[in-house]
Amino acid sequence: MKSASSASVLPDAPFDLFNLPDAYYDDPYPFFRALRDNDPLHRNADGSVLVTRYEDVKAVWRDLSGVVNREDMYRQKFGEGPLLEHHTTTMLFRDPPDHDRLRDIVNPFFNQSSIERLRSTVEDIVDRLLDELEGRREFDFISDFASRIPVQVICDVFGVPRSDGPRIRDLGAQVLLPLNPAVTPEAIRAGHAATASFKEYLLAFVNQWRARPIEETPSNIISALVASEQRGETITEDEMLHMCIVVLNGGHETTTNLLGLSTLVLLHNREQYDTLGKHPAVIGTGIEECLRYSTPLQLQGRRTTREITIPGGTIAPNTEIIIAQASANRDERAFAEPDRFDLTRRPNPHLAFGAGIHVCLGRPLARLEASIALPRLARRFPRLELVGQPIFNRNARFRGIQKMLVKLG
Ligand code: HEM
Repeated sequence: MKSASSASVLPDAPFDLFNLPDAYYDDPYPFFRALRDNDPLHRNADGSVLVTRYEDVKAVWRDLSGVVNREDMYRQKFGEGPLLEHHTTTMLFRDPPDHDRLRDIVNPFFNQSSIERLRSTVEDIVDRLLDELEGRREFDFISDFASRIPVQVICDVFGVPRSDGPRIRDLGAQVLLPLNPAVTPEAIRAGHAATASFKEYLLAFVNQWRARPIEETPSNIISALVASEQRGETITEDEMLHMCIVVLNGGHETTTNLLGLSTLVLLHNREQYDTLGKHPAVIGTGIEECLRYSTPLQLQGRRTTREITIPGGTIAPNTEIIIAQASANRDERAFAEPDRFDLTRRPNPHLAFGAGIHVCLGRPLARLEASIALPRLARRFPRLELVGQPIFNRNARFRGIQKMLVKLG
């Protein structure tokens, strides 16, 4: 599928990350193309730099992978409270050695063999949902299918009831929204309240595990965190709770968006949807193309602690950098015909999961879920069709679809 040409949709006004037009949320790619061509290190109104070319994005991620702690900036943006505590306590926003200490505790749940053990669970969830949809003429692909898979799987990984999934999704969305470049005071207030409720919800499970004997091999992430605490390893209660929030959030929002955005592009490229149904093995390369083309997590932040030189130029110390991996993944300097979706594309060195020490912890799980769900969907519903236009969310960082009506043909 080709994006609309930049000339046809770009507004006359200069690009303003803090005041994005509706057209950006519907399709950010023409904006990224124009930035890559004309202003690849774009200076935002607040002095931060938006980096859009592939080689520059990769260089920033590698060079600054250990510099994510931006407590001062977040204090200014969020004020004191649970939201600030969250975004300064998790491994995502910590530098080594704290980052590594925290990541090491949960790493075993995301290695290849742990993820492989989840295969039949994911297959069951997907098949059951497809069975439920079989009799429906028309449904919302996001609320009835895409959003229900990742949250059920991640509830299992945490040992919390699947029926709590909707609450976990709702709280998670409120914690993540304030990370966007432009954010309202109401969203910040809601983010503080949601973080506090999320902690309270999780503490009840932590306390249940504290009351039991330590498991030799922890059966879920909460029990692993409690085991680590009881063995006397350095981890505070706040670190445990914020670790749960960050992994739970990582576990559903982005994967839901991957499923929604990928299905949309497959339906726009009908012959590839048909191929996936008939030849499910194409998902081997296809999953990487879905990640490249859709890039559900589109923007990331870093701060320079010294002057850095990247292929596109030099950036001064103490500069906030906004990495646009979504743009890098469509850079014609790195990918042939980047706006063409091709399930067989090879090589495909996309940056959808980041790079450096913060590279996505859950990437094997996201790949597993989408590699099971997409081919099964295409095989079971070969005549799936869009009804009207999907509605995209208004989130520049976590790009996704809010509602997408489909019918079974
Ligand atoms: C398509 C789905 C996903 C995408 C596109 C995605 C993307 C990313 C990216 C770009 C980063 C790097 C952030 C940075 O450098 O600042 C990241 C980190 C992370 N992701 Fe994912 N992710 C996905 C799924 C998941 C899942 C399923 C989980 C957990 C179950 C997860 C948990 C995490 C965690 C905990 C980190 C922080 C790692 C660290 O700081 O060391 N993600 N993810």
